[in-house]
Amino acid sequence: MLQSRIVCHFIFLVMLLSACKARPAREAAHEGGAAVGKNTAAGWPQRFGFGHSAPAKLIEEEDIDIHPDGSGLPAGEGNAITGRIIYTAKCAACHGTETNSGKQKLPGPLLFAHPDSVHIKTIGNYWPYTTTIYDYIRRSMPYNAPGSLSNNEVYALTAYLVHANGIIDSATVINASNLAGIHLPARERFVKDDRKGGKEVK
Ligand code: HEC
Repeated sequence: MLQSRIVCHFIFLVMLLSACKARPAREAAHEGGAAVGKNTAAGWPQRFGFGHSAPAKLIEEEDIDIHPDGSGLPAGEGNAITGRIIYTAKCAACHGTETNSGKQKLPGPLLFAHPDSVHIKTIGNYWPYTTTIYDYIRRSMPYNAPGSLSNNEVYALTAYLVHANGIIDSATVINASNLAGIHLPARERFVKDDRKGGKEVK
């Protein structure tokens, strides 16, 4: 018993020592000290041959964030009339319809304000920017098939959700130049967090 414990301690010590020895060489390699392709003193190659540099097209596909001022919005357009049709086919099963009471159990959150559900946060009473609706839907919805919607479909769905929350009429066409200018009522309910740290930060 005692013997095996000593052996264990010995193995651990050897592992520890070799880790300590390898560390400075690996750090040096990381900093790019040696020429590319040349082995370092510890025998680590400079590169392991994994991956490749990202092509511009791939970066473009991944670079989809949209800012509150509308920058990043793609070309395209849509209105609530088209949006309602897409919503019924691809979204209503999880999010319900405008006539849902908010008491019904649904897989997804309620997206419309309703007198029975005033305490539920929705686009109409909680979301500050329309551009976030666009960004959110484009990157993550429908939940079971994110990335499957065209830019025009996302514009139409955004228009529908903004319309169904009583903010624009159903014929208003939204696009990259007017979406950021559509004002959601909740924008004023948020304040900038300008605390600088110190005692007031709890
Ligand atoms: C399979 C079910 C499902 C489908 C279909 C679906 N969603 Fe969702 N959706 C969800 C779930 C679940 C969440 C909450 C995700 C979370 O909080 O991480 C969500 C969240 C959302 C939100 C954010 C709501 C909030 O207040 O936080 C929006 C907006 C939204 N979905 C829009 C859509 C639209 C538009 C479609 C149709 C293109 C759609 N969803 C289809 C399940 C679904």
